[in-house]
Amino acid sequence: MRNTIKKQLEGVIPEDRLQYLHSSFDILGSKSGSVAIIEVPEELTEYRLQIAQAIQTVHKNVKSVLGKTSERFGEYRLRELELLSGDPDTEIIHKESGCRFKIDPRVTYFSTRESTERERINSKITEHENILVMFSGAGPFPVCIAKKHPTVTVTAVELNPDAHRYAVENVNLNKVTERVTPLLGDVREVCPAMGQVFDRVLMPLPKGAFEFLDVAIPLVKPGGVLHFYHWAPEEDKYSEAQRLVKEAAEQYGREASFTDGVKVSLYSPRVCKVRIDAVIQ
Ligand SMILES: C[S@@+](CC[C@H](N)C(=O)[O-])C[C@H]1O[C@@H](n2cnc3c(N)ncnc32)[C@H](O)[C@@H]1O
Repeated sequence: MRNTIKKQLEGVIPEDRLQYLHSSFDILGSKSGSVAIIEVPEELTEYRLQIAQAIQTVHKNVKSVLGKTSERFGEYRLRELELLSGDPDTEIIHKESGCRFKIDPRVTYFSTRESTERERINSKITEHENILVMFSGAGPFPVCIAKKHPTVTVTAVELNPDAHRYAVENVNLNKVTERVTPLLGDVREVCPAMGQVFDRVLMPLPKGAFEFLDVAIPLVKPGGVLHFYHWAPEEDKYSEAQRLVKEAAEQYGREASFTDGVKVSLYSPRVCKVRIDAVIQ
């Protein structure tokens, strides 16, 4: 793949700089239209439009190429993306595990790289569970869960109005409307007002989920499960996350016991995104 794109760029980018071309990039979408999101190294900045065009020449279904121009930032966890070539309308339908997700990566968080994590969570769920997904974005967790488990109900809470709008569409698109309730708002305000407790609570906001543990703990039924995401150093992945959950549980006279821990992805060379699972008694 890279070689073909590289081939397109021979004679366009000087040979000594072609080595800097990244070997992979993200593609969101499907055969009927997709968006490529690329990271252009500094050495190739002046050739970014030609790189984007080469991608579109090789991947005929790529309707737009976006270049990352910042890290993720802010509450909505978005990043700045520059349109390098193609259609300015960057909304696509992405397919994953038998589900379809309408999204525009310019206005909502969505990571194709986390599909394995969604499958891992799905494999833990049992029949008739009532589940809360905090920080639910465009709805990948709630939809994947409800689609795979026909007896399960899910409540999804998201702050970004665009992400919430897509979550509502995605619930409809995947025909799980009866069992998934997407709510717009800050989990701190929305969740306590729901007046219910859950068998399982997901907190997929590695940057800052710990600040909402005081909201999450009382929402877990005694004996229920909390999936807590956190950023951690490579050399000690789970200690801090476990301490935070344990202390938050103790504040409510509850006890946390830890049943699993996984490294979800690498965030930067020494920091990774982890998930720990805790049973809250
Ligand atoms: C890392 S993204 C994950 C989104 C989604 N779960 C996914 O996997 O694609 C975190 C999401 O939390 C949302 N968020 C941040 N603070 C929030 C809050 N206080 N209440 C509700 N949602 C929040 C952001 O807007 C963002 O969509």
